[in-house]
Order: sequence, then structure tokens, then C-alpha cells
Amino acid sequence: MTPTPQEPNALVVEGLSHSFGGVRVLRRISFAVRQGEMVALIGPSGAGKSTLLRLLAGLIPADLGTVSVLGEDVQREGRLAPRSGAVRARTGLIFQKPNLVGRLDLFTNVALGGVQALAPWRSLTGTWPRGLRAAVLDALARTGLADKAGRRASLLSGGEQQRGALARLLVQRARLVLADEPVAALDPVAAHRVMETLTALNRQDGLTVVVSLHQISQARRHCPRVIALSDGQIAYDGPTEGLDMGRLAQIYGPDIEAAVIA
Ligand SMILES: Nc1ncnc2c1ncn2[C@@H]1O[C@H](COP(=O)(O)OP(=O)(O)OP(=O)(O)O)[C@@H](O)[C@H]1O
Ligand SMILES: [Mg+2]
Repeated sequence: MTPTPQEPNALVVEGLSHSFGGVRVLRRISFAVRQGEMVALIGPSGAGKSTLLRLLAGLIPADLGTVSVLGEDVQREGRLAPRSGAVRARTGLIFQKPNLVGRLDLFTNVALGGVQALAPWRSLTGTWPRGLRAAVLDALARTGLADKAGRRASLLSGGEQQRGALARLLVQRARLVLADEPVAALDPVAAHRVMETLTALNRQDGLTVVVSLHQISQARRHCPRVIALSDGQIAYDGPTEGLDMGRLAQIYGPDIEAAVIA
């Protein structure tokens, strides 16, 4: 989905700063992401990508600044805002290491995305309501995992586990996906498949996506917009086509040319 300028914001970040042990790692970051956008977050190691994503998810409090997700505050001037369960449920987090429960089968893992929406007694009965079962089967089909429903999550490949995590987000009815290097540990083919699945969720379901990536080629292929962090500040925020070698050298340093060609 290509968002129109009228699309409301999914994410608004204003003056966000963070430090660890007195060392400032993010300095007055501001940007907004419209609903339906797919944005790559790039930048060298240590630039602050993971820290920024953790702040956006409300996992750690910022030193200063505000973050709002789907119109509700997550951070407000140094404090985590108490968020409604509804907004929390609508934000999906994906990390480099897939976070499925290894000893449970894939179907159960994906169904767990929907338990917040159930009356408490339903999750105690040991059977899933018909609507949820249908949603799980649909999500597994959408992510190319229909034939893996009964497999223990720990026996799935890394790429399958990441797609399983995306299926769980569909069942969760997440509207914003924050993904931190979701394909860094995968071979190129598996990585491509996960990125294609994430792109399908963005285009077909209108999920807003902010994904940190180390491969510039993946950002170019999948994300129309890129935000580059360098030394805790935004070094570039614009169309991915605008990432020419000069800009990349500003972000990563002069050796990037050899690295990208290699
Ligand atoms: N819990 C922490 N305690 C102290 N310093 C931290 C902590 N987490 C991150 N840092 C520091 O903050 C800076 C930004 O780290 P961050 O993990 O956000 O970078 P990154 O852009 O995600 O890097 P990478 O590409 O390697 O994942 C680094 O200098 C890092 O050492
Ligand atoms: Mg990181």
C-alpha cells in the first residue's frame, strides 16, 4: 500500500534523546511515519537503531522527548506513559532471534497472538474458538506455512520461525510492526522470503512497518523510505532512491563503496 499524504500518522517521534551511563546514544530524534508506510532504519553498528526501536516499543523509558503510536502516548518527557492494552496489542515486535515458544507447535504459537482478544475462560478450556482457528489457518497460509502448523517451533528453520512470528502478528491484528534486524541471521534466500512476507503484510493489510536492516540492498528492494541513523542522529530521512554513494559514505564512512560492491 502506498500511503497518501492524508493518511494519519501511525508513529510520531519528537525530540527523543537517550543515554546509557551518561553517554548520549540518541540525540533529539524527530520523525513521523504515516499509516501504511514501510520504512527501513539503517546505520552503522552502534548508531542507535535497536535503542530507538526499544524506545518506540515502550520497552525502556527515554531521557527526553515524546513517542506516540496510533495516537496514544508511549513516551512523554522521560516517562513511559501508561498505555492501553489496545495500543499495546496493536504493536508487534520482531527481533533477530525469533521469539516463538520452542516447545509448542506452530499453530499454538500463532494462536497465542489472539488470546488477548479472548475472554479469560476461553484460553483455559484447551480448545480454540472457531473464529480464532480460522484466523490462524489463514495467517499460516498467508505466510507460506500452511503445511507446518503441527510442527514444534524449535524444529522450524530460522526463516520459518520469523514467518511464524509474522503470522502471529496477523492474528494479533497488529497495526504497527517494529522489527529489529529480522533477517540478519538468515541465508539470503530465507531472508528474502521473510522480507517478501513482511512486504505483503504492509501492502495487502496496510500494516505500518519500521524495520532495521544492515543490508542496503534489502532496504532498496523492500522499503520506499529510509531513515538513517549515524552517531545517534538522523543523517538521512527520505526516499530510498536518494541513497546514493555520497549519502552512504556520510552515513557509514568512506569504506562503504568497497563494502557495497564486494
Ligand atoms: N543496555 C545498554 N547499556 C549500555 N550501553 C548500551 C546499551 N544498549 C546499547 N548501548 C550502547 O548504545 C549505543 C547504541 O547501541 P544500539 O544497540 O542501539 O546500536 P545499533 O545501531 O542497534 O547497533 P547494531 O547495528 O550493532 O545492532 C552503542 O554504543 C551501544 O554500546
Ligand atoms: Mg541493533
